[in-house]
Amino acid sequence: MKETSPRETKAAIVVIDDDIHILELADLILGRRGYQVFTAPTARKGMEIIAARLPELVLLDYMMPEMDGLTALREIRTRFPNTYVVMFTGKGNEEIAVELMKGGAAEYILKPFNNRDLAERLDNVLRIREIELHNKSLQQEHVRLLQEIDNWNQDLQKRVREKTDALQKAQSEIAQSEKLAALGYLSAGMAHEIRNPLNSISLFIQLMRQNTIDPEQLDYQGKILKEIDRIDDIIRKLLDASRRTRTITNDVAIDRVIDNALDVFSPQIETGKIRITRSYCDSPPLIKADPAELEQIFTNLFLNALDEMPSGGHLEIRISEENGRVVVRVADSGGGISADTLPSIFDPFFSTKARGTGMGLPVVQRIARIYEGNILVEKTSPEGTVFRLDFPAYTLS
Ligand SMILES: Nc1ncnc2c1ncn2[C@@H]1O[C@H](COP(=O)(O)OP(=O)(O)O)[C@@H](O)[C@H]1O
Ligand SMILES: [Mg+2]
Repeated sequence: MKETSPRETKAAIVVIDDDIHILELADLILGRRGYQVFTAPTARKGMEIIAARLPELVLLDYMMPEMDGLTALREIRTRFPNTYVVMFTGKGNEEIAVELMKGGAAEYILKPFNNRDLAERLDNVLRIREIELHNKSLQQEHVRLLQEIDNWNQDLQKRVREKTDALQKAQSEIAQSEKLAALGYLSAGMAHEIRNPLNSISLFIQLMRQNTIDPEQLDYQGKILKEIDRIDDIIRKLLDASRRTRTITNDVAIDRVIDNALDVFSPQIETGKIRITRSYCDSPPLIKADPAELEQIFTNLFLNALDEMPSGGHLEIRISEENGRVVVRVADSGGGISADTLPSIFDPFFSTKARGTGMGLPVVQRIARIYEGNILVEKTSPEGTVFRLDFPAYTLS
């Protein structure tokens, strides 16, 4: 007879029966077959062995004095779902057998049994058990994978939502920055417009004062001058408030300023199918300017370019040096500027957009002029527009 090492190859089987002869017989037959056999004369004892050994199979007698087979069967099946149970039943108890199968038994064997038959049927049950457990684990894996996919989906949706929120926030921040800049320049412009006539009034009153000796007139004129001073004071404060805190000019690397301005648009660029090309000459000369103001120029130009390319397009930024000037070209593949609007685009409040402020380009022009720069439309057609900016190149001594 071939000796197999049971622990390595064969399953563990717990046999529970109140008939000691059955236990011995089963031990002998199954032990020879190579199974690891444990026997128990009561369901209680059997349950302890099952809990300790977690066997593949239990051979369980239906008729036992202490705990009936069905109850034991149910307990094993609930507590140890991977342990399969084969029931012993007496002949003539076929209805009970059906009941047992419903209760979770894998098979039933009629007593008295044929030795060879017993072993073969247990082999079968163990094979089926293998397959079923494998199936179950595949199914669990399937469910787990579905769950994982679901989690990914949710994660993705969450990220899309976050990106969309960030995009909206970025968009409104950019628009806000354009409006604030516009407001600053507007109030600065207005202040100058008011100050000039105010100066004239003040001058004329002072002239009148020199030709008056009437104390009542002198009193009135004095009061008018005081009020003029008050208005002047208010305007000065308004100017201070609208002016950027630092007006110091720095040596600015324009390529870096442009990259910063582009950064703000990156969420829009990613989602809006906008392709960006940067053609920068090697280390462009520095410009003397306030970097924040320069950035505002490009923010406004890029905003306009993106407005013209709602369903995607190409934005190209070129930097070069021409005759001692730093030249920047901002080219888009938008719809272009029509001949009749072209003369007005730098006018304050001129806009062809339903919700445009018409202050984007006027602000660009104003800032450019502060730093001795120029802005113009170099080329425009239904294929796109090129804005050309130039500033004096500043070379370090
Ligand atoms: N890149 C461009 N392509 C086509 N038209 C442009 C472009 N940039 C500006 N414009 C035109 O110039 C007008 C004025 O621009 P702007 O001063 O920025 O104000 P807004 O953008 O609020 O309309 C725009 O309404 C548009 O008609
Ligand atoms: Mg604009």
